[in-house]
Amino acid sequence: MKFLISLFLGCLSVLFISLQLAFAQDATLDLDEGERIFTANCASCHNGGNNTVNPLKTLKISDLEQYEKNTVTAIVTQVTNGNGSMPPFGDRLSDEDIQNVAGYVLNQAKTDSW
Ligand SMILES: *[C@@H]1O[C@H](CO)[C@@H](O)[C@H](O)[C@H]1NC(C)=O
Ligand SMILES: *[C@@H]1O[C@H](CO)[C@@H](O)[C@H](O)[C@H]1NC(C)=O
Repeated sequence: MKFLISLFLGCLSVLFISLQLAFAQDATLDLDEGERIFTANCASCHNGGNNTVNPLKTLKISDLEQYEKNTVTAIVTQVTNGNGSMPPFGDRLSDEDIQNVAGYVLNQAKTDSW
């Protein structure tokens, strides 16, 4: 019984720490700043969440899901390294800028705001 209780408490604290990390990560994303970066660097091809180079790969949630780009981490990788016809932005934007623009894109997609 004592073992079960400490196992339970152990799980609870792992859960609690993971939740804290998840929120801490979100809290560092600045969506207004992300929008500014998007307008300056991405809108030429992705205006309104579209894709003028490859119209099949928009930034809408259905396409992000289909191509497994529906997390901040996946979008950060895509923006940093490029993929397909999209060039890398890792040498043009700071890590923080890329985090913010990824947060903005995912938020626009998830809230159907494009
Ligand atoms: C995005 O693409 C859709 C469908 O092609 C089009 O109707 C819309 O006007 C485009 N939006 C922008 C901002 O280019
Ligand atoms: C490009 O994205 C696809 C998923 O859409 C992935 O499978 C592939 O590994 C990526 N390529 C590079 C070079 O990151």
